[in-house]
Amino acid sequence: MAARAAKLREQGHRVFAFGVGEPDFETPEHIREAAKKAIDRGASHYTAVTGTPALKKAICAATERDRGWAPRPEQVVVSCGVKHALFNLALALFDPGDEVIIPAPYWVSYPEQVRLAGATPVIVPTQEEDAWLLTGASLAAAITPRTRAIILCTPSNPTGSAYPRERVVDLGQALKKSPDALLIVDEIYGELVYSGFKHYSPALVLPDLRDRIIVVDGVSKTHAMTGWRVGWSISPPEVAKALDVIQGQSTTNPAAVSQEAAIAALSSPRDDFMKMHAAFQERRNRMVEGLRALPGVKCRMPDGAFYALADVRGLYGLKAGDKELKSDEDIAYWLLDTAHVAAVAGAPFGAPGYIRFSYACSKETIDEGLAAVRQAIEAARR
Ligand SMILES: Cc1ncc(COP(=O)(O)O)c(C=O)c1O
Repeated sequence: MAARAAKLREQGHRVFAFGVGEPDFETPEHIREAAKKAIDRGASHYTAVTGTPALKKAICAATERDRGWAPRPEQVVVSCGVKHALFNLALALFDPGDEVIIPAPYWVSYPEQVRLAGATPVIVPTQEEDAWLLTGASLAAAITPRTRAIILCTPSNPTGSAYPRERVVDLGQALKKSPDALLIVDEIYGELVYSGFKHYSPALVLPDLRDRIIVVDGVSKTHAMTGWRVGWSISPPEVAKALDVIQGQSTTNPAAVSQEAAIAALSSPRDDFMKMHAAFQERRNRMVEGLRALPGVKCRMPDGAFYALADVRGLYGLKAGDKELKSDEDIAYWLLDTAHVAAVAGAPFGAPGYIRFSYACSKETIDEGLAAVRQAIEAARR
């Protein structure tokens, strides 16, 4: 898809980019300024493998401020982005024979990282009618003596769904079925929830299980810092020690200057973040309303992140030339070729029949891109 979109651009076409997984904003100026100053002060050396004490302190303070519970610095391991933090966890924790429960739809890297570690992903479906959330009953049914961990993403990429407090409690009950399975929670979109939805960290809601909960989080999405590569895990200290060993023999520390930028992001007033947050909320509403207005398309209002997962099964049967569109992948390619709209097919996320539209783009792009989709559908229906 990306190669085909790039080719269209080369040919001079405007491509509506609804496939992107990163904010379209630049990193806020005060963060960039802090990083420039840090370079001049000499942030050009190795740091401690798992991050500087100042950054760990800032992470602990931000977790207490934003998530309502207070980790200790020895639980924090800073890596080169959340993907790296998750990868290190997979290497540290999963062995052949282990099972790792992943609710579908899922972020594509979770099952692949589990497989890279030689373990087995156990995919548990969720229902759109139930807001794409894992239930305690389905979690309990999937737990076996081989279950090593459950990976949860709230708010989720690709569904945008987030776990309300009572559902976290329900999952906590189910987790008690296993004496030692770990709950890995990806909270990278934790600050990006809308319309008053409150994000609840499982570590806050389930204090009894805190020694089994591992949080991964980072600055990539909240602070428009995807290119700086800073993410972290908060885990029991013995897990953090294993991560230290793995990271020490691979990447060593994340870039010293990026760590300084992350301190600025976590410690300064949240005015820039609030502006981006307001823009995302407005775009979400526009994207979802626009998708719902398309013939044959349905879309649940997501609670957070910056993705809308649209049900496109109502478009099956349309013709692209001689070819009948029969899958989300067919439709995603057809949208790219006919409307120059780049969005991501749902099947790789474990959501066949759906397409993920990112609204990390301008309102004009949303309006014009969806108008192009409408034209393509209407032309195909004639
Ligand atoms: C759910 C989820 N987790 C982790 C990541 C990776 O984040 P990072 O850029 O910090 O590695 C992404 C990026 O798309 C994501 O959507």
